[in-house]
Amino acid sequence: MTDHYAVFGNPIAHSKSPLIHASFARQTGQDLDYTALLAPLDGFVACVTAFRAGGGAGANVTVPFKEQAHALATVRSTRAEAAGAVNTLHFKGAEIYGDNTDGAGLVNDLTRNLGVDPKGRRILLMGAGGAARGVVQPLLECRPAILFIANRTPARAVELATRFRHAGPVHGGGYDALAGSAFDIVINATAASLAGELPPLPEGIFADGALAYDMMYGRDTPFLQLARQAGARTTDGLGMLVEQAAEAFFLWRGVRPDTAPVIALLRAG
Ligand code: ATR
Repeated sequence: MTDHYAVFGNPIAHSKSPLIHASFARQTGQDLDYTALLAPLDGFVACVTAFRAGGGAGANVTVPFKEQAHALATVRSTRAEAAGAVNTLHFKGAEIYGDNTDGAGLVNDLTRNLGVDPKGRRILLMGAGGAARGVVQPLLECRPAILFIANRTPARAVELATRFRHAGPVHGGGYDALAGSAFDIVINATAASLAGELPPLPEGIFADGALAYDMMYGRDTPFLQLARQAGARTTDGLGMLVEQAAEAFFLWRGVRPDTAPVIALLRAG
């Protein structure tokens, strides 16, 4: 019997998740289908409830519903709890299990696809919204030398860092606090790229051999352009997108798909 999955978001039309999960299913011989469903801004819970009642086995959740998905889940993973957001739901009997695979997606992309081990590295995370919050704990679990969270509104970065102080060497502040510092991995988790804008990074922020990572994908952003000019290696967030999907697929199906051919397929398309 074919199992049904879906991704809920608003907007959702351009989601690559159906293509990614169809590729995973084909590759692993899993009998499932996966569709993108637009939930009204005030109708997320009703949509998910109807999908589940109709036999849905699980779902992904994207902007702007991850916090609502966290609230909807009756059981949550430690990493979903840390992120305060859920991007993966698994319907198991009476329970709705909520997980967050975004941070694992980033870390797996860094380590498996890009060959960058965050251990002992100096990491700069730009942004203190939902996208940043989801990756703090998984990055700290990699045991970096330091994780500095920089944000346009410094108080939000300080608050986020304080929340995770128990988990590793994490600090927060404004961009002006970065003057004179250099980092090995610089991650853009702000919404600046969406608007074609650039967080105010001081000169010299990229250490020799640094990796600049923009969580946005499919676009050459001002951040990536700046990083390239500064001699850094650059990447967008397509690998993270595919890796977070692979983690969700593993949670649902107990099978880990090979992500490399799917990343290549999306890059080609
Ligand atoms: P998301 O869930 O995508 O992280 P969010 O919670 O609205 O969205 O957070 C957006 C993040 O991008 C914030 O860190 C925001 O900075 P502020 O907290 O100061 O608002 C950051 N951001 C948005 N536009 C930016 C810009 N032009 N330059 C720098 N940071 C920007």
